[in-house]
Amino acid sequence: MTDPQLVLTGILQRAMASALGSEHADADPLIRPSQFADYQANVALSLAKRLRRSPRDVAQSIVDHLDFPGAVEVSGPGFINLTLSDEWITEQTQRLVGDQRGGVGHTDAAQTIVIDYSAPNAAKEMHVGHLRTTIVGDALARTLEFLGHTVIRQNHLGDWGTPFGMLIEHLLDVGEPAAVAQLEAGEGSEFYQAARAKFESDPAFQQRARQRVVTLQSEDPETIRLWHVFMDATIRYFNKIYAMLDVTLTDKDIAGESMYNPMLADTCDELEKAGVARISEGALCVFPPGFTGSDDRPLPLIIRKSDGGYGYATTDLAAIRHRVRDLKADRILYVVGADQSLHFQMVFAAARQAEWLPDSVAAEHVQIGMMLGSDGRRFRTRSGESVKLMDLLNEAVERAAAAISDRGYDEATRDEIAQAVGIGAVKYADLSVSHDSEYIFDFDRMLGLTGNTGPYMQYATARIRSVFRKAGVEPKAAGGPIVLTDPAERALALQLLGFGSVVEHTAKAVEPHRLCAYLFETASAFSVFYEQCPILRSDVPADIRASRLAQCANALTVLETGMALLGVPVPDRM
Ligand code: ARG
Repeated sequence: MTDPQLVLTGILQRAMASALGSEHADADPLIRPSQFADYQANVALSLAKRLRRSPRDVAQSIVDHLDFPGAVEVSGPGFINLTLSDEWITEQTQRLVGDQRGGVGHTDAAQTIVIDYSAPNAAKEMHVGHLRTTIVGDALARTLEFLGHTVIRQNHLGDWGTPFGMLIEHLLDVGEPAAVAQLEAGEGSEFYQAARAKFESDPAFQQRARQRVVTLQSEDPETIRLWHVFMDATIRYFNKIYAMLDVTLTDKDIAGESMYNPMLADTCDELEKAGVARISEGALCVFPPGFTGSDDRPLPLIIRKSDGGYGYATTDLAAIRHRVRDLKADRILYVVGADQSLHFQMVFAAARQAEWLPDSVAAEHVQIGMMLGSDGRRFRTRSGESVKLMDLLNEAVERAAAAISDRGYDEATRDEIAQAVGIGAVKYADLSVSHDSEYIFDFDRMLGLTGNTGPYMQYATARIRSVFRKAGVEPKAAGGPIVLTDPAERALALQLLGFGSVVEHTAKAVEPHRLCAYLFETASAFSVFYEQCPILRSDVPADIRASRLAQCANALTVLETGMALLGVPVPDRM
């Protein structure tokens, strides 16, 4: 544990326990960065009232019991100002040198974590909202895996249900090769809309579509073959997007709604037998405790409609049972739109009632806020259609290419950089805002070279790499030893020591934006260091140069590792 704030927390808690009594051993000492010291602890102010003592007096007794590697003083109304000694920082920083994990540990409580993410629909409109569930979910998967957890990715594709009747009939009308070409090209929405239009205007087509739902449900071999033709082409398009985004999902992670179809009857039976579900107005429903409608009546989670059909909730109950029982999940994350919050609350409650989801297993809805256009409404094209993901990504890459067109790179290098910058900008923009807030999709802002953007982070990283190119040294060979001679060196060192606990916190709270914020602070601290502390200049003494190169190497490891955990690419140069 090297995070200064955590180290100080422990030290203060021990002092509080011996100064004020053991009941204070776990109290939060409220450590914050300070203008006048490295940190300040504000706990005395909050305890004073309860102890009926003056805050300065409480602060002083804590300080009297403090065993602290640095300087300490009580200031103002009762702040405890803490300044770590250079020796302590030097020693901790030296330990980071050569650690390829940047000080990130391995968890000592490894879990099996199922992450349900991406989950686009093949049969409805494919919308840009799935971009966020994909990117956020993938960053969480990478981060949790890095800490040593076993991550099971589950792509809960919308690949089943009544719309497939009309989709398959439309596929037959269009002809298989033409339909496949259209779906592979990402025109699933158009395909769906054409089918829908016919369904509404052509009674004969509607008749065929309904019949097709029946043959699909009964698993008629030719219908299943056609369904596969449709799905395989659609998945090939999804895979193009995943490849473009460098997302870690593969075909073996696909566990779509269709997979649960054979389990739905049994899911309902088990719930009914256990007394968790009952018939209400012809439908089989669970009424999880605590959920009521506007009329104060218990809110039903319908698992079998009165016509015998199953729905989204049935599938999710089958899925949760499978994830706990067969996949042995300790924790299940659902990275899904915030608008499905009630659905998941009810599904989790029903699963707990059924004892499919024991208290020892956490189920969390990682709510994803909507992506908005510049008009503040749901993101759409100018003509009001949903935006094709591929078009969006291509535009990001084209804009990135235009922005670097004057830098004199040959075409191949330029394409490579543009790809990393364009895609990186989109991904980072998604990750850097808290996942549950809405955000406005804005190319100009996300591609900007200043502020908390992907390109800024990439630039900061590329700049450190270029220091090593100029020095003719491999980062790995920069061993120090660390010496601190300038406040900017000290500030960078302190910042870098916090990486491990930020990664842990990001994983625990499932909040990639915290990692982004930390990396941005790190890049900023590096930037100040870079401006104030010459590294390769000829008048810099050899020991200071060696120390500064070692700090560059530490910063590079932290930034590269952090960006890799986010899944944001970093080009070698920019
Ligand atoms: N396909 C769904 C949608 O687009 C998301 C599925 C999320 N996962 C789940 N287990 N329900 O809204």
